[in-house]
Amino acid sequence: MESGSKGPGSLFNRNLVSIKQLDKGVIEEILAESERMLEIYKSNSRPNLLAGRIMASMFFEPSTRTRLSFESAMHRLGGSVIGFADPLSTSSAKGETLSDTVRIMSAYADILVIRHPTEGAITGALDSASVPLVNAGDGTGQHPTQALYDLFAIKKEKGRLTNLNVALVGDLKHGRAIHSLAYALAIFGNSLTLISPQSLKMPASMVADLERSYGIRIIQHDSLDQALNADAVYIPRMQKERFSDQKEYERVAAYYVIDKRFMAMAGSDTIILSPLPRTMEINPEVDTMKNAAYFRQAAYGVPVRMAVLKMILKGR
Ligand code: NCD
Repeated sequence: MESGSKGPGSLFNRNLVSIKQLDKGVIEEILAESERMLEIYKSNSRPNLLAGRIMASMFFEPSTRTRLSFESAMHRLGGSVIGFADPLSTSSAKGETLSDTVRIMSAYADILVIRHPTEGAITGALDSASVPLVNAGDGTGQHPTQALYDLFAIKKEKGRLTNLNVALVGDLKHGRAIHSLAYALAIFGNSLTLISPQSLKMPASMVADLERSYGIRIIQHDSLDQALNADAVYIPRMQKERFSDQKEYERVAAYYVIDKRFMAMAGSDTIILSPLPRTMEINPEVDTMKNAAYFRQAAYGVPVRMAVLKMILKGR
């Protein structure tokens, strides 16, 4: 991917499959566009920036926030949406390959937003696409727009994107939101505290890559106490559907829980973030506390996806 701020914009007409393809300058450009989109979102104006454009939302896995915030984003910019939320209603149930589906959908829409259960499947379908393609989550792989609005939320909540220590907690093995955010934070030079049970550690190759490629400080631990002084605690659910052994899932489902007790011991500036949905890892008793930032975070999904759609389809 080309970076820099010349020409039609660094995301124009590009695919977005991994946060790793973006450099700091491009991410800053997206976050700046997201600020403009947040103003449009708040004022509830409908600027028609993407009038006449069609987004295909192709979800081969369950989704609430990602699919509907992308669709809301497209509608808010005057564009239209086609797509499916249940692959069983499509020809993939008849055995059609993702590549063939992507080839066909490229003739029906100007941009494809795809979620798929298999890591790498979306990258594998790139050659079949003749319009830009956005990865909305590929198995345990990547979820780049999630990381972009996680960064946006961190910037809003903490006032900065650098010099942070962020604790990533829980299922660091399977979580694509974690895998994307770890890189996004590393791109900005932040320190990571990785907290997980032994069986759910971040893949060693990823930890090594983060350290080697970005020179960041990484601490690994299995105790939630290590998160008490973090600037932010990011705690997704345990990824039940990706466990090969459901008994193991039951064992770790509530391994870490953010509750009032944790909040009472945590630093006064320690915010709690989650990509959601939540299951057992955040006690609802925390929801009304000022440092519980996850619902504010979720709302940023719309303006950030407005920015991504606009920058890919129209440029800056
Ligand atoms: C995440 C996902 O699908 O990876 N959800 C989301 O997009 N907000 C996290 C999760 O499912 O736990």
